[in-house]
Amino acid sequence: MSIAYFNGEYLPLDAVRISPLDRGFLFGDSVYEVIPSYGGRFFLLEQHLQRLERSLAAIRLASPHEPSQWRERLEGLLQRNGDPATPDLGIYLQVTRGVAPRDHAFPAEAQPTILAMVSPIRPLSETIRDQGVAAVTAPDQRWAHCDIKATTLLANVLARQGATEQGAQEAILLRDGQVTEGAASNVLVVVDGEVITPPLAATVLPGVTRSLVLKLARSAGYPVAERNLSEHELRRADEVWLTSSTREVLPVTRLDDQPVGDGRPGPVWQRIHAAYQVAKSGAETARPALPSEGMA
Ligand SMILES: Cc1ncc(COP(=O)(O)O)c(C=O)c1O
Repeated sequence: MSIAYFNGEYLPLDAVRISPLDRGFLFGDSVYEVIPSYGGRFFLLEQHLQRLERSLAAIRLASPHEPSQWRERLEGLLQRNGDPATPDLGIYLQVTRGVAPRDHAFPAEAQPTILAMVSPIRPLSETIRDQGVAAVTAPDQRWAHCDIKATTLLANVLARQGATEQGAQEAILLRDGQVTEGAASNVLVVVDGEVITPPLAATVLPGVTRSLVLKLARSAGYPVAERNLSEHELRRADEVWLTSSTREVLPVTRLDDQPVGDGRPGPVWQRIHAAYQVAKSGAETARPALPSEGMA
């Protein structure tokens, strides 16, 4: 049983008790982060904590901790879950508006509930590196603030379930004929050597991995465009990638049962995947090696 952090204490995950009156449970009134760590070292922690602050501000919930206090608590969590068999861990961190009698409006007095727990991150399998993954398209039925990392994820859950039932790993969401993102990932494509991804907007989560991958692509000399990406362009792209903190950069080789490009992970993906592994291998110390830091 892994150890969790819950409201100031470390305890076995199955000993955590959440109140039925917790607003995270009742309303999805909460935000979260998923922070990767490799060999016991955080990867891009600062960027994740910045996004957490942004999400908290967006839902008008005062941040319960300073960045250094978050770091200290999450370091404690990593230390308690240090197992050589699973050196790479994703930290799930959720902050809710707390426990109060059920009423939609904010409670006058409530302490935020804080939960952090870990799960292993597995390296990309050889099969995926050789063959890529399948994705399907689906209508984007989410709310108007997908830039907030809120736990209110029912539309994402339904889209991902639809993909799973079609034997695919991810649903790529389409709104008004344009790509927004995946159910739990950002979407990038390569067309004629150019890396293209939808611009940051209310329809897109500002992915930490997206931001790093764009930097890696620029450093590797590829032209990069953050602009609207139509369904038509998605379908004719040479390469399609999905990015997220736990799945890194995944090559999509089948889209709606049609091959993407030649149906194999493409050459630009190979290069960026390799660059990502180098960035990862330094974990926290990788940051100074990157050309122009700062999350988009
Ligand atoms: C909807 C959505 N978009 C994008 C991402 C990727 O974000 P990040 O790279 O910061 O993990 C996620 C991650 O879970 C997500 O849920």
